[in-house]
Amino acid sequence: MATRCKTAVLVSGSGTNLQAFIDRVGCGALDLELSVVFSNKPDAFGLVRARNAGIPTACIEHGGFTDRDSFDRSMAAKLDEWQPDLLILAGFMRILSAAFVARYAGRILNIHPALLPAYPGLNTHQRVLDAGDKWHGSTVHFVTEELDGGPRILQGRLPVVAGETADQLAARVQAVEHQIYPEAAGWVGEGRVEFRDGRTRIDGAIADEAVIQVFDRAGKKLQVSRPAADRTR
Ligand code: GAR
Repeated sequence: MATRCKTAVLVSGSGTNLQAFIDRVGCGALDLELSVVFSNKPDAFGLVRARNAGIPTACIEHGGFTDRDSFDRSMAAKLDEWQPDLLILAGFMRILSAAFVARYAGRILNIHPALLPAYPGLNTHQRVLDAGDKWHGSTVHFVTEELDGGPRILQGRLPVVAGETADQLAARVQAVEHQIYPEAAGWVGEGRVEFRDGRTRIDGAIADEAVIQVFDRAGKKLQVSRPAADRTR
């Protein structure tokens, strides 16, 4: 992958993760080119964040399409105008068709607010509280056809606080996401982490386990983990 990785960010809502990317790139801490921000919702606040940062935007409303494949074809045609190397799903709340995933195989990342493989799907924070789990977090993973099921790259874990609400827990998880997502995307953008032939490679070596970073209840990183090669430095 090119050093200056052309990146498309796909959003459906608020775009706080997008903002984390914008901020990191803006201060020189992340070497990605944010080429375009795409949304399936014209009122997504993520589009406003992009415009404020001077990033081109594109929007196609999915409601105008009769089926998923035709929407995804239009979305791909639009995205390809920027020839992205990498697609970042940042709260993009649509299931992607097999054809779309195949078209960008190994080049789509997602963040899911759970310690995958636990809690794929929706409403993760409440499910974690209902189950009485002691730990929660978020996972950056490559996107495959399996919903929330692709190879995991980086997982941020934080303790659940007794008595907190799902909204409070969600806010703390998002603060962790804003740290781990740009970091993991940076590894992929640099070509250090890649997914090909069904396996994840870190610095060329097969790595089937995610890198795990542990945070305290306030969102401070306690254990700094990096891909394998950095651990020896
Ligand atoms: C994030 O918390 C992300 O983990 C979640 O949507 C939120 C988007 O927030 N994604 C999913 O649930 C995908 N399964 P944001 O728009 O503020 O970045």
